[in-house]
Amino acid sequence: MHHFHYSGHNLTCESVDLATIAKLYGTPTYVYSAATMADNFHRLQRNLSGLDLQICYAMKANSNLAVLRHFANLGAGFDLVSGGELRRVLAAGAHVKTSVFAGVGKTEAEIKLALENEIYAFHVESEPELARINHVAGQLGVKAPIAIRINPDVDAHTHAKITTGKSDNKFGIPLKHAAAAYEAASKLKNLRLRGVQMHIGSQLTDVAPFVEAVKKVTSFVAELKATYGIEYFSIGGGMGIVYRDALASGPAAWWDAQPADKRPLTPETYGAALTPLLAPLGLKILLEHGRFMVGNAGVLLARVEHLKRGAGKNFLIVDAAMNDLVRPAMYESFHEIVPLHRDTSRRSLVADIVGPICESGDCFAKDRSIQEVGEGELLAFMSAGAYGYVMASRYNTRGMAAEVMVNGSAFELINARETFEQMTAGEKIPAFLK
Ligand code: LLP
Repeated sequence: MHHFHYSGHNLTCESVDLATIAKLYGTPTYVYSAATMADNFHRLQRNLSGLDLQICYAMKANSNLAVLRHFANLGAGFDLVSGGELRRVLAAGAHVKTSVFAGVGKTEAEIKLALENEIYAFHVESEPELARINHVAGQLGVKAPIAIRINPDVDAHTHAKITTGKSDNKFGIPLKHAAAAYEAASKLKNLRLRGVQMHIGSQLTDVAPFVEAVKKVTSFVAELKATYGIEYFSIGGGMGIVYRDALASGPAAWWDAQPADKRPLTPETYGAALTPLLAPLGLKILLEHGRFMVGNAGVLLARVEHLKRGAGKNFLIVDAAMNDLVRPAMYESFHEIVPLHRDTSRRSLVADIVGPICESGDCFAKDRSIQEVGEGELLAFMSAGAYGYVMASRYNTRGMAAEVMVNGSAFELINARETFEQMTAGEKIPAFLK
């Protein structure tokens, strides 16, 4: 459910006409709905209310400072993966104390920064990392709180590049080696064993792999509680969102109309399946959802440059490109693309929707049917709130897009479009070339 819908002929975000934003700030521009983010947060919280819950929003999905502040105001902590993300949490005026630090290659400097800011816990992915954290904590004269990430070897049935819970990928410690890893950790005197963690993958559209993974590890988690007195279990993130019927899935009525066996994963299903498995553990439960919290809360606005009618194919060339939204090029992912001004009297057109970058991978959609639109008209790429702006680059010396947040009838620029001067500020011609 989300707050993007047509009001008359015009696509709006909450009560704001998206064309107004495109005219004011130009394109490409990301627009986020604060109400959708808050609804997602509250729905997750409500449906797992039988648990002692801490939501650590996976900020890698969208780390704009305004987004972080919004989630912090709602009561979220953060799942962060770098010193840069940690500094973003601070810059947003939020606490690190309720946040966890994940990732397979934390540097000594990052570990130090996290300890100085009283991180809730490190999510540790290997034995050498335990030793490194122990070493840095010793230097600072503190005890580092840790949880070991266990790899439950469950197939999440998602895209190969975003599945993480199988034994053949780089994440976590296999369940059968986890007891030994905890024992080794317990002997390191600068560590405090605070919890246990797992994460099986991203964009899961079925609850079964979550259930399977939790069932696989619960007895081990209970043992850890008995042996070391751990206080929490993080079950990671990964709840999928609707990409194909993105616009239609805004109102609750769409969800009610889906047959039960076809309905995409909801927090209701997730909460109902997992609460009875997790509650008996008597532990604090951490959730690290990223995509679910922000994915359907954002769109990318673009303008049509040309409609190029080819011999066998039409090309709709837009001013957004793979540098702005890389997911289709990188994962063959589907984003629904809709006109900002809907005109049902127009014919529909079948076209490849492409950006201006000089490679054929710069294609958002192949043979997509869309209302006929021409030069200067505006489009929205739906479900672009997660892994959109954060994965963008400056390829072809295209500056980073602008970002805007909407809240009811109010909206504000939360990140200005990057200028050429900003893009090249760190570059210089060396003396030997002058
Ligand atoms: N926790 C851990 C340890 C993770 O590795 C991830 C995501 C999350 C939580 C959050 O997962 P989410 O709830 O967002 O599914 N760039 C890809 C997604 C990569 C996800 C990486 N890890 C995409 O655009 O689909």
